[in-house]
Amino acid sequence: KKKVILDCDPGHDDAVAILLAGIAKEIELLGVIAVAGNSYLRNTVRNALILTEMANINVPVFKGSEKPLLRKQIVAPDIHGESGLEGANLPEPTKKVENKNYLEFLAENIYSNPNEITLVAVGPLTNIAKFALNYPDLVPLVKELVIMGGGIEFGNVTPRAEFNIYADPEAAQIIFNAGFNLTVFPLDVTHKAKIYINEIKEMQEFSSEIVSKMGILLEFFHQTYYDVFKIKGAPLHDPCTIAYLINPEIFEYEEYFAQVETKGELTYGETVVDYWHFNKPNSKWALNVNREEFIKILFENLKKYE
Ligand code: BDR
Ligand code: CA
Repeated sequence: KKKVILDCDPGHDDAVAILLAGIAKEIELLGVIAVAGNSYLRNTVRNALILTEMANINVPVFKGSEKPLLRKQIVAPDIHGESGLEGANLPEPTKKVENKNYLEFLAENIYSNPNEITLVAVGPLTNIAKFALNYPDLVPLVKELVIMGGGIEFGNVTPRAEFNIYADPEAAQIIFNAGFNLTVFPLDVTHKAKIYINEIKEMQEFSSEIVSKMGILLEFFHQTYYDVFKIKGAPLHDPCTIAYLINPEIFEYEEYFAQVETKGELTYGETVVDYWHFNKPNSKWALNVNREEFIKILFENLKKYE
């Protein structure tokens, strides 16, 4: 089993990633860290708590960063609603957030399990950048850092920038230069990992309360994607990272050197990818997915919830 710590900003697709990571037999989920992103930190923490509580995923939830490193904060109510997880009325959690600092939680786990911990980050990279700045010696002991973020062909907040990177470009640029064994799931692949409305309706009929609620939540997400982008089918960005840990063979990859633009007027927050390999690669990029297999992995696992 892969030991995984999930850093996220739930968020509809983050929520699916949590449910998938919480049940897959290939994964031992050690904890969830929330970061501000799709909504403010109080909301992403609450959402992480209620999701893990309702799904009976018995892992600690930690409070991460409230604000990006340098830039002015942005959130994404147009996609995820004000609460970050609009569309179904989830109850208030009774589960409590941990008191321990998330950086200590990360450091202790990585120090005591060298080359065994996979970090998955599917929100802005603020928490992980702070970890790399505070514990540079522990970075090489992380087995792999898997992120959802960036785009080679296109962005989704600006023509060139993807949300997770744009929400904290300075943090992302730190990540691309910190020396992680880094795997990236950009928009180029996540927009091929769509879930269609008939599949969302199917999920609503799954027997567990949390998964059928997830289906209702995804209907909201599907609608906002149609309203904002005029596309049919909701891209399941964040669950790609977890599906990759379950079966890497459903994706195709290319290694690239990549940096994040932190100065550009039109390109602030863009992941600048060295297509011709002028420089030695610093990251592996997923570019393609077998969508049918992806949905199969998702549904087989979500059906396991009772
Ligand atoms: C990313 O931004 C968020 O809205 C999603 O949860 C995903 O992590 C996609 O750009
Ligand atoms: Ca996210």
